[in-house]
Amino acid sequence: MTTEPEVLLDVEGVEVHFPIKRGVFFDKTVGYVYAVDGMTLQIHRGETYGLVGESGCGKSTFGRALLRLEEPTAGSVTFGGVDVSTLKGEALRTTRRHMQMVFQDPLSSLDPRQTVESLLLEGMQAHGLAKDKKAAGARLRELLAAVGLPAAALRKYPHEFSGGQRQRIGIARALSVDPQLIVADEPVSALDVSVQAQVINLLEDVQEKFGLTYLVIAHDLAVVRHISDRVGVMYLGSLVEEADSDDLYATPLHPYTRALMSAVPIPDPLVEDRREQIILAGDLPSPANPPSGCRFHTRCPWRQEERCDTERPQLRVVEIDGVPASHRVACHFAEQIQSGEIQRHEVDPVAIDPSAATDVEAADAEVVPTQTFTVP
Ligand SMILES: Nc1ncnc2c1ncn2[C@@H]1O[C@H](COP(=O)(O)OP(=O)(O)O)[C@@H](O)[C@H]1O
Ligand code: SF4
Ligand SMILES: [Mg+2]
Repeated sequence: MTTEPEVLLDVEGVEVHFPIKRGVFFDKTVGYVYAVDGMTLQIHRGETYGLVGESGCGKSTFGRALLRLEEPTAGSVTFGGVDVSTLKGEALRTTRRHMQMVFQDPLSSLDPRQTVESLLLEGMQAHGLAKDKKAAGARLRELLAAVGLPAAALRKYPHEFSGGQRQRIGIARALSVDPQLIVADEPVSALDVSVQAQVINLLEDVQEKFGLTYLVIAHDLAVVRHISDRVGVMYLGSLVEEADSDDLYATPLHPYTRALMSAVPIPDPLVEDRREQIILAGDLPSPANPPSGCRFHTRCPWRQEERCDTERPQLRVVEIDGVPASHRVACHFAEQIQSGEIQRHEVDPVAIDPSAATDVEAADAEVVPTQTFTVP
């Protein structure tokens, strides 16, 4: 008998819609940026969940919404059985202690005027974990050792370190309050390739040492593959595919995942020669004006006349031999694509309406949502 893994984070239908304002006092809402638009996933205690998708698809906003650094428009986030969506004040602060973030650029997330010691102590003090000076000192040394920095680092400032070392400080800072979940948002994207592997290895080491659960966000499939137990692929605000890491890389089923995979170089020249090359037509559509039906239909090489532009596919278990129920896909035609019954075709790139810009100022007046969603 296998025991069910414990769900640490349970995310149900989370949406984050940013209002686009206009008017002299920016008092009129003329549309929304549907940055996160229906994210449902579960992360088990002790696992690493990798979230991938191209830049602008809503990964960071989603990560921030989990910690309520961004207020979700809809949906629920349950952490360790506690509904985070409804927490306020002290209760929210306490829960946040258990959910820490590691950011892409440690320099922008670390106050340059603080020494490493005060950066590390800050969070501990805020959560009452540094009351005993001697114990706090021991804890600081333990943290530094855990991330592979010398004790002398305590008296230095962030700018005195290399990018990789700064990311070690960022990780030590997240660890300082003894969290259960770490949301690492592009933790190695700003680092040299040679340093990336070291930081990934460090994340794996401290995960084991402290029994952590990870959500690792990246735009790079290669980074996520190495570290993740399961992977979710995100496109324009929601998941299009989710599977155990090995299953996803062996059998990508969603057209978008296939395209992402085809862009990852494979070291084996034989495989490299035979693999399918899919170059996506057009840019990522604006999340202020997302395509109807399947969000991917404007770029999908397998798009069909029926359903694709009218009916939004949900993440579902597919009926394909050898594909387990844990591998779910949001495509109406996943089975027919896999069997070859539906063939790839050319896609005309769809021009992106420049007035549908996503940043609030540039968007100005013309952006009007084409669909009705639940908004506050
Ligand atoms: N505060 C905000 N106001 C308006 N739009 C935003 C805001 N934050 C992010 N966005 C938009 O939401 C979309 C998703 O952004 P983001 O979550 O940063 O994506 P990713 O991390 O995948 O690159 C982008 O189009 C971005 O411009
Ligand atoms: S539902 Fe249609 S448009 Fe969307 S991924 Fe599947 S085939 Fe492509
Ligand atoms: Mg991001």
